[in-house]
Amino acid sequence: MNRDHPMAGTVPITLFEAASMPHYATHQPACDSFGRRIDYLRISLTDRCNMRCVYCMPVVGMQFAPRPELLTNAELLRVVQAAATAGFRKLRLTGGEPTLRQDLVELIRAMKALPGIEHIAMTSNALRLRHQAHQLKAAGLDRVNISIDSLDPLKFRQISYGANLDDVWAGIEAANAAGLHPIKLNAVIVRGLNDDEVVALASLTTRYPWELRFIEVMPLSGVANLAEDGVVSTSELIAHIEAHFGPLQLEEHHAADPARCYRIPGAPGKLGFISAVTDPFCDTCNRMRLTADGRLHLCLLRDNEVDLRAALRNGASQAKLEQIIRHAVYLKPWGHGLPEGVLPTLRGMSELGG
Ligand code: 5AD
Ligand code: SF4
Repeated sequence: MNRDHPMAGTVPITLFEAASMPHYATHQPACDSFGRRIDYLRISLTDRCNMRCVYCMPVVGMQFAPRPELLTNAELLRVVQAAATAGFRKLRLTGGEPTLRQDLVELIRAMKALPGIEHIAMTSNALRLRHQAHQLKAAGLDRVNISIDSLDPLKFRQISYGANLDDVWAGIEAANAAGLHPIKLNAVIVRGLNDDEVVALASLTTRYPWELRFIEVMPLSGVANLAEDGVVSTSELIAHIEAHFGPLQLEEHHAADPARCYRIPGAPGKLGFISAVTDPFCDTCNRMRLTADGRLHLCLLRDNEVDLRAALRNGASQAKLEQIIRHAVYLKPWGHGLPEGVLPTLRGMSELGG
């Protein structure tokens, strides 16, 4: 976190002692003040990563949280248990790079065993999946999203500051062989960097039954300038892809999915477009995030957070944790403020996991 930022002191962190916290009924799933049911928790297991994607980690000035600030496995399990009693059903493990977390296999097994947790997904760069995919699946991981922004080894190296595309591809194949289906691949397109690879990336779906998701660059802390110059809008991407493959078929849309899906006619795989910047989907948002240092982050593109770690380390009961989680859900902002020029300033994507 950028604690030196002038905004840092003004983040509305609501401590669990807050006298104003009401009591929430416990017999129904947590809903926010706009009536959205929030049942999907994305958990950042670490803010560290073995890559340095240009649109994610600033080249200089990265500060990682010291280990004692991160939630322990026991603390994470308490949070997930409390979230499950508040009605959360789906988890996604993110980072940084979640496979860097020690005891990931045991953590997944323990999370999946908690009553109420129905589905666990993970977002990974796949560098370590070649060796881990089978164990993760056996422990209860249901599926993975894997970042891949280029199919050109040199370009890939450039975007990721040195990673090897072959290792990522081996990780994708291992995930596929382990049955972590459906495999979804995330590509962030940055103008002037990899916008010449849109057709090559899209054509993966003509060979594999995977979903290739194009994600608009978001102006998170440290990369806001890149987003300003670099957002390639979904409509521009679709025009580009259609110029090559002909008209795309629109696929059925699932309410909680931020991606709008299409198919190249006859292709086994799908194309997804996540247009958080040019076509926000906040009205159907069903998610909240937990940072590796134990804060509930209420909207990806806003700074509002609720401190759960303080509660955990001050002896809060499970019932109290559940109440804080319900309160955080209630406080969830309606949506991001990008159209009004309100940018998140405190955390980068590597702390929030997308
Ligand atoms: N904008 C959009 N997506 C991003 N990701 C990382 N940084 C950004 C950004 N600034 C994506 C990664 C990864 C997922 C967790 O978020 O590609 O797939
Ligand atoms: Fe690491 Fe993912 Fe960020 Fe790339 S996008 S630096 S793989 S956390």
